[in-house]
Amino acid sequence: MQLNDLFETHYHRAPEYTVRAPGRVNLIGEHTDYNDGFVLPCAIDFAACVAVAKNGGTQLNVYAADYDAHDHFAIDGDIAASEQQWAQYVRAVVWALAQRGFRLPEGVDMVISGNVPQGAGLSSSAALQVGIAKALQTLFAWPLDETGLALIAQQAENGFVGCQCGIMDQLASARGVAGHALLIDCRSLEATPIPMPAHLAVMIVHSHVKRGLVDSEYNTRRAQCQQAAAHFQAAALRDVSLAQWQSDKDGLDETAARRARYIIAENQRTLDAAAALRSGDIATLSRLMAESHQGMKDEFEITHPAVDALVEIMAEAIGKDGGVRMTGGGFGGCVVALLPHEKVDSVRAHIARHYHARTGLTEEVFVCTPHAGVAVV
Ligand code: GLA
Repeated sequence: MQLNDLFETHYHRAPEYTVRAPGRVNLIGEHTDYNDGFVLPCAIDFAACVAVAKNGGTQLNVYAADYDAHDHFAIDGDIAASEQQWAQYVRAVVWALAQRGFRLPEGVDMVISGNVPQGAGLSSSAALQVGIAKALQTLFAWPLDETGLALIAQQAENGFVGCQCGIMDQLASARGVAGHALLIDCRSLEATPIPMPAHLAVMIVHSHVKRGLVDSEYNTRRAQCQQAAAHFQAAALRDVSLAQWQSDKDGLDETAARRARYIIAENQRTLDAAAALRSGDIATLSRLMAESHQGMKDEFEITHPAVDALVEIMAEAIGKDGGVRMTGGGFGGCVVALLPHEKVDSVRAHIARHYHARTGLTEEVFVCTPHAGVAVV
């Protein structure tokens, strides 16, 4: 059933607005966002959808179509945690909006649904949070632009859900540009659209590795990066060069030093990859994506043996005609590749022949098109 029909079934009237917020895939620049660095994501065809209408009362009622589950809470009191994970995201956004002075002036009825694969590193939760923020902003005509919505969605995740994520996912979902990747400076929040060369496909392959302990590992990485930045007396690792790392790393513990080296190199790779994408230098892009994966594996230690195998298998088939690496927070999830459209079928066949045989897992392949960011539909 369509979202609008579901809304009518549940609330006996049409929604006032329906919003669509895309997931994202990151091409390169992993874990650089919370180091004030650069990232290169694009929004994808999968999205979260949110339908809303004011209800004149003092409650927010929400129906999650994908779970056939409900939640409701009072908008005028403190917002407590919910036991349902999906409902946490709704409550978190309402909480974060209020933190910034945007309190719901009256109750709201809401239906949510989405098709971003979960636990895949494609930002299903950021898409949902950006979509909810946009729907409420539109409903009450609050003066918040797309960057403001992204910051609220990030605050919801940091302050209510409890993951100390950076700003990449929310900005990509809020400000994506069709047919383009976005080079985002996570310090200034400036986003430069980089056209995706017409001959390249964006292939996303889900490893189906079950992710565990992601949030705690994520928060540990973030703390290690902060520790390293403090050691180098820098505001963030973005401000540290490889030369400074080399000359001043003594006294920093070995793990934090390794993490820092990865971030410093990855940040430069992201700038270089954006330039290579812009000029159509696919051989350089191929090398940079391979180095990024290697760094995530050996220095930042966020990959997984099955994901490493998947990247190896895909690299065999893609060669220098494109690039491949794990994408997202890590510890499983998806691999992203940029490759000529005419190679998609042979790469798909090569994965089918080797991935299950090597790992016992079965892949899932999506071919995506860089999509526009959040919008009222
Ligand atoms: C998750 C976080 C992002 C970013 C990536 C890693 O997706 O939400 O902020 O740090 O991991 O690049």
